[in-house]
Amino acid sequence: MGAHAVDNALGGVEPEKLTTLDSLPRPPIHSLFGWGVFWTMPEVARRHMAKLGERVVVDIPFMPTMVFTTSVQDARAIFLERGGALEFNDALRRLSPHERVLGKDLIDAFGGGQHDQVRRLVMPAFKGRALRGYERAMVEATRMRLETWELDKPVSFYRLMKDLARDVIMSVVFGVTEPERRAALEDALIELDTAIGSAGMMGRYFASMVMKGKWLPFKALDAAIAKVDEVVAREVEFRRATPAEDKGEDCLSMFLMFQQQDGEDGFFDDQILKAFMRMLLLAGYETTATTLGWVAERLVRHPKVMEKLDETLAVGDETYLEAVIAEAMRVRPALPITIRAVEKDCRINDLALPAGTIIVVYVNAIQKAAHAHADPERFDPERFAERRPDPMHWMPFGGGAHFCLGAQLSLMESRVLLRTILERRRFAPDNSPDERQVQHRSLMTLPGKGARVTLLKRD
Ligand code: HEM
Repeated sequence: MGAHAVDNALGGVEPEKLTTLDSLPRPPIHSLFGWGVFWTMPEVARRHMAKLGERVVVDIPFMPTMVFTTSVQDARAIFLERGGALEFNDALRRLSPHERVLGKDLIDAFGGGQHDQVRRLVMPAFKGRALRGYERAMVEATRMRLETWELDKPVSFYRLMKDLARDVIMSVVFGVTEPERRAALEDALIELDTAIGSAGMMGRYFASMVMKGKWLPFKALDAAIAKVDEVVAREVEFRRATPAEDKGEDCLSMFLMFQQQDGEDGFFDDQILKAFMRMLLLAGYETTATTLGWVAERLVRHPKVMEKLDETLAVGDETYLEAVIAEAMRVRPALPITIRAVEKDCRINDLALPAGTIIVVYVNAIQKAAHAHADPERFDPERFAERRPDPMHWMPFGGGAHFCLGAQLSLMESRVLLRTILERRRFAPDNSPDERQVQHRSLMTLPGKGARVTLLKRD
């Protein structure tokens, strides 16, 4: 390590007191904590990992060495690091299909010197007044969809939420209401979603890990990307031809405004704009749909919580609903981990990390740590009824410089959608066993049976 450890001040520790990767537990590949178990039985993996210690090295052939940490001090140091020792975008490049779908330029923009500037530029579309402007579209989309949902028999609430969240993101991101243009966008999105979730994509994804981030050709994906881009390009043309006073308050309209502010030689050219729209369309609905699926899966198994939720919503109080959503995200986070690539030898607290490793913040385990929450496995929204979750122990949206751009949007959307659904529908209680947490190809942790819920009409 030598001088590098001091170069990247991620915590002050004398070299002889440094913990090296060699000294950490390193379960063999065939052990319970194999990568396969992590994906197929995430809870088994979590419990096994907890027995090994706070930091565990996972070394899998063809993949970078990964260090899983459940230490909140590590998580904090990782999230607060701003010296270029750790990068989110390079970790995505190495371990997820983001770059293949979004393109190199956009992934570049989410790291290094440009990142802060990009976030500052687009942030106004994801907070405050902009968010309030999206609420009406959310309510309308929910009211339209819920009339089509089957009653009195079990349905996959996650599937319903996926369609609804797609409607919402189309309205919020694109503001497209005209039926023909909306149908074209929906078609393109479904095609892209299907290509990304296909077995062909999965195969190429694994191949890309073996080939250190290189991707085999995949025509179906290229065609789907081209189709979404075409719809975006048509919308851009349409907006540019629309008088300013008739332009909506959706993300695309705002992005076009940001583009103007950024100037002709700015970063925000039409290619980046298209990549951004793809990113919002993709990041924006599967995550929220998964969260809403888990909220319903937890609620039907906790009738007392449901009762209190009904009572509080009936008097227009949404604080308990917020607590229910936060607690569902604690016990069932849609994304179980977040990652950073180690760019240069550095240390996190006392842990020496060589360049090339991936440091994994094990969110799912941190949020269920016994030292942070009483009876941590229990779904108990009361813990957040009086106080907000502590960001040291509640981090479903990550933290620091890369804290999820859509966190406020997604929390607000979850609240508005659930409130609107529960105005007209009830969830029938269900005493069947908890749904298993399964890792999906989209890298999200889904309810094993798709959050089966029986919807009842509210009188
Ligand atoms: C329940 C819903 C969601 C969850 C659980 C979630 C989770 C996350 C997580 C864990 C990260 C990584 C943060 C880190 O490592 O520090 C992230 C980043 C990000 N998310 Fe979300 N997300 C959600 C919804 C959304 C939505 C609705 C959007 C946009 C419309 C969005 C856009 C982004 C973007 C752009 C980033 C990268 C931010 C950066 O690098 O600066 N997410 N999200």
